[in-house]
Amino acid sequence: MQSRPRTVISSYANEYISIPKYPGLALHRSTRHVSPYVRAQRAAAAGVHRRIPPSRCVSRALGDTVDAQTGAVGMQHIHGSGHLLRILPALFLRYTLGFIEVQHDQGSAQRNKSHVNDAMLMRHIIAVCVLVSTLVLLCSGALSMPVKLQTLSRTSAYIRPKFSSEALPFHDIRVQSRHGKVEQVHLSVLRYDRVVIGFLRDINDLPNTELPMQATLRYGTNASHLDHEMVLNARVYSGMQEYNSYLWNPPMGAPALNRSEVAAFMNTASWAEPWWYVYRNTTVADIPENRSVFAVYNNPTALYQSPLVFQAKLDNLLPQTTYYYDIDGEFSGNFTTLPEPGIQDRPMTIGLWADVGQTNISVMNMEYMLNKVNPDFVMLHGDLSYADAYWPLWDTWQRLMEPLFSTKMHLWCNGNHEFNSGNENNVAYMFRFATPFEESESPTFEYHAFEAGLVHVITLASFARFDKQSVQYRWLMRALERVNRTRTPWLVVQFHVPWYCSVLGTGSRLLMREAMEDLIYKYGVDLILVGHVHVYERTYPVYNNQTNPCGAVQLVLGDAGNREGPSLPFIDPQPSWSAFREGSFGVGKLVVYNHTHAYFEWNRVACEYSNSSTCATPGDNSAQSHIASDSTWLVRNTTQCPNRLMPTERL
Ligand SMILES: [Fe+2]
Repeated sequence: MQSRPRTVISSYANEYISIPKYPGLALHRSTRHVSPYVRAQRAAAAGVHRRIPPSRCVSRALGDTVDAQTGAVGMQHIHGSGHLLRILPALFLRYTLGFIEVQHDQGSAQRNKSHVNDAMLMRHIIAVCVLVSTLVLLCSGALSMPVKLQTLSRTSAYIRPKFSSEALPFHDIRVQSRHGKVEQVHLSVLRYDRVVIGFLRDINDLPNTELPMQATLRYGTNASHLDHEMVLNARVYSGMQEYNSYLWNPPMGAPALNRSEVAAFMNTASWAEPWWYVYRNTTVADIPENRSVFAVYNNPTALYQSPLVFQAKLDNLLPQTTYYYDIDGEFSGNFTTLPEPGIQDRPMTIGLWADVGQTNISVMNMEYMLNKVNPDFVMLHGDLSYADAYWPLWDTWQRLMEPLFSTKMHLWCNGNHEFNSGNENNVAYMFRFATPFEESESPTFEYHAFEAGLVHVITLASFARFDKQSVQYRWLMRALERVNRTRTPWLVVQFHVPWYCSVLGTGSRLLMREAMEDLIYKYGVDLILVGHVHVYERTYPVYNNQTNPCGAVQLVLGDAGNREGPSLPFIDPQPSWSAFREGSFGVGKLVVYNHTHAYFEWNRVACEYSNSSTCATPGDNSAQSHIASDSTWLVRNTTQCPNRLMPTERL
């Protein structure tokens, strides 16, 4: 049996709302032929704030709110209605007890029989009326529940088992080359109407007379008639292999290489002259158990040649439209475009994950993202394949992720594993994944901006200069100035290394925070999404190391299953800005309902093993099971936090 999701309102805008058990139902319930969702949208457009009606009376009773300043869970009244709620139960008890007293009097004295009966009847009617009125008011959303101030446990009791992940077979068919056929298909979103379809061809097993440098992609909105055609030219890149000890000694997952294989790659004696300085008769004894070794640049046996890389930029697409595509008759798929900025006629679901890697848990999260989160698009906050310059791992990773990547568009962000964990220097990242930097007037693929529906996303680079003299900082100022909060009220920023994280000994980017946080606060960023540290942690709205109702909520979503395992322990005591933390694997789900309300859920991997005897969650034997171990409503209140308005509206 799965444990009950912990549902807490993060009322960082200091606005009371209910906790619908099924948020979608509440938002779609129709009244007078106009759904609350539509009415809320209209109200938001008119500058009027309305509360979402509760879907269940019981959800009102479960409601609590979080004081952004103190971190305590408590009551927030609006319109003074809490006083009414105090009075009504008291009235009910008074008349009910009075009724009992009357019954006692009736039995003991039997006097004034008619008068007593009348009084008893009247009190009974009044008591029922008070009770019904109380329930009606509760269910109508007119009251807030007075909850005594209390501090909930803000750290999950869940501790991930320390033993290794079930081995992912790297010779599994899912990561095998397709021998010249189209593979590693992936979608990158640049605008609501612009998508890049990327794919590769591995030519290693083709006869050397074959070099399929061109590919033809056809696409259209009619699956049986693809009326657009593009002829694409290939690119290729090279890299010198590096051999990180994780390859043969990973804390999680199966080894990608063994030490004797590495020794063979490192051995230069087979081709170098004995007098040459690179001459080295490397054996397995020369490959340490826990230390990386590096091939010299002039070792040809350690040269990697990428598969042929193709990218097709599909432009002028229709919004919210399903497109079908076919690549040389070898691969076909489909995807659905996003709504135009400022337009949203249904909730938008965004998948969130980071630090993915390629263990069996990575696969579980990928499948969960595809089948259960089923997002409109996905944001990946850095650390993708964990190839670390053993370049073939980029190919195995993209083959493994293809079921998700070929149908769900991604908005990419790079991490240290794309940059310098191994001498990657963004080469594979840059060649393989398209980012909307040209669309957002950024001078580099590393940072960019994007908008669709009610969401504006700014992606920053933790590994590009960020000081106030840097290009990135200056670009960020301009990018923030360009955000139209009327059109896209939700301002989300993603990058890789957290500014706030309470794991002991992990490197938060304090200098980046010091440089950029004032800017982020000034423009009222709602949400910051990061990875890097292999845990889940949610902050209260925070600014300058203090909880602040007008600061941004930061989510560390740093463990989608990579081979390094979780980062623990947490520091003790838990910082005041830390709302919830858990050393678990999983993925995030963000649902943007309207201009003021969004819902976030952390879906922890409940069972890390397909083997029931080692399942981490008692009673749950499903290898694919996730549970929502933390969730929160995000509420925008521009009255209290005018920094969330456009600068021209802040007067
Ligand atoms: Fe990282």
